[in-house]
Amino acid sequence: MEEKMASKYRVGIIGCGGIANAHARGYEGVEQAEIVALADPVPAALDKFANTYDVAKENCYLDPREMLDNENLDIISVATWHKLHAPMTIAACARSPKAVLCEKPMGVSLGECDEMLIAANRNGVKVVIGHQRRFNSAWTDARNLIAEGAIGEPRQIICHGGQGLLNDCSHLLDMMRYVLSDPAPQWVIGNVERKTERYERDIQIEDRSAGIVGFSNGCIGMLLQEIGRPNYQGGIVYGADGIADVTEGRVRLLNNKSTDWEERPSDGTNQHVAQAQELVEWLDGGPEHRGEAKHGRAAIEIIMAIYESARMHEVVQLPLRTHANPLDLMIENGDLPIERPGRYDIRAFLLHGESMKPE
Ligand SMILES: NC(=O)c1ccc[n+]([C@@H]2O[C@H](COP(=O)([O-])OP(=O)(O)OC[C@H]3O[C@@H](n4cnc5c(N)ncnc54)[C@H](O)[C@@H]3O)[C@@H](O)[C@H]2O)c1
Repeated sequence: MEEKMASKYRVGIIGCGGIANAHARGYEGVEQAEIVALADPVPAALDKFANTYDVAKENCYLDPREMLDNENLDIISVATWHKLHAPMTIAACARSPKAVLCEKPMGVSLGECDEMLIAANRNGVKVVIGHQRRFNSAWTDARNLIAEGAIGEPRQIICHGGQGLLNDCSHLLDMMRYVLSDPAPQWVIGNVERKTERYERDIQIEDRSAGIVGFSNGCIGMLLQEIGRPNYQGGIVYGADGIADVTEGRVRLLNNKSTDWEERPSDGTNQHVAQAQELVEWLDGGPEHRGEAKHGRAAIEIIMAIYESARMHEVVQLPLRTHANPLDLMIENGDLPIERPGRYDIRAFLLHGESMKPE
């Protein structure tokens, strides 16, 4: 038994809230990993998590850096709000673990993503971003069907997202690339509306936005953020010879060989277990993880290019050269005057006690 335990990857989790539970259940489903340490500045969150996942109280920390210094971790999950993804990933990488699994969005600017990659590269750390729907079997089915030519040359993909570009829409932009076999984004045009002081998990977000992105395979992606239709994780891909309508639950396929829609349900794979499993396999010498950080960065590059297009009133050619967050620049510059004042955070309900924003 002891020998088996010694061979397990030692996992530590920074931020013991909602998505951290999904990470924890993911690791619990993987034979080669064991959650050994936790960090969260909110004692009640830490205690509850430690009890649920049976982590010893002496391995629970209010300060994540103390955990990183003391616990000799192999894998670190970063499951805090977005603003802490870069600093916590960089802090984790500086201690040279084997891997970091950081939640999406990878960062809140392209500059942050690049700093995370520098930290990973200079310390030899494998970094994965938590776009776990890459493990949704319906999305993978759509990717394989499109690659095999089931809808002919993909021409357009349309998605409807919400909660600002960095939240839901980072998944959707990652989905666009995933189902198209990860083409490079080449150009972006977009616009935003922000007439209220809207925040999401303590970052400034727009009220509405739209973005169009041209990919290297000739397909054009269109993302509507809180415009027109209900938000959902999925999209519709129009090809020269057919259509793939993708949700989390299924792919519906129609093409020049079919007389009616073919319904192809998802197999219900636990995406977080699959994400963790592929990570340990990568550490054991297996193929690169499908959520490798470059994909998380690509989603952020498109998002920042949508903001940059709104700021510069131009079609933005990629690679993006602006490293700051252009939405923040527009707000600071007075380009998006508030008409209905008063800061509000659409995720303030996640905080504890009297807090309305993080300390
Ligand atoms: N992949 C997905 O589908 C998915 C789903 C939900 C959330 N997320 C992402 O996960 C991240 C966390 O979201 P959530 O809903 O779990 O938030 P949450 O508020 O439920 O959890 C965040 C936790 O981080 C803790 N925290 C705050 N400051 C900290 C610090 N300095 N060090 C360590 N911990 C700290 C908080 O106390 C809290 O327990 C977000 O970036 C979000 O985008 C991803």
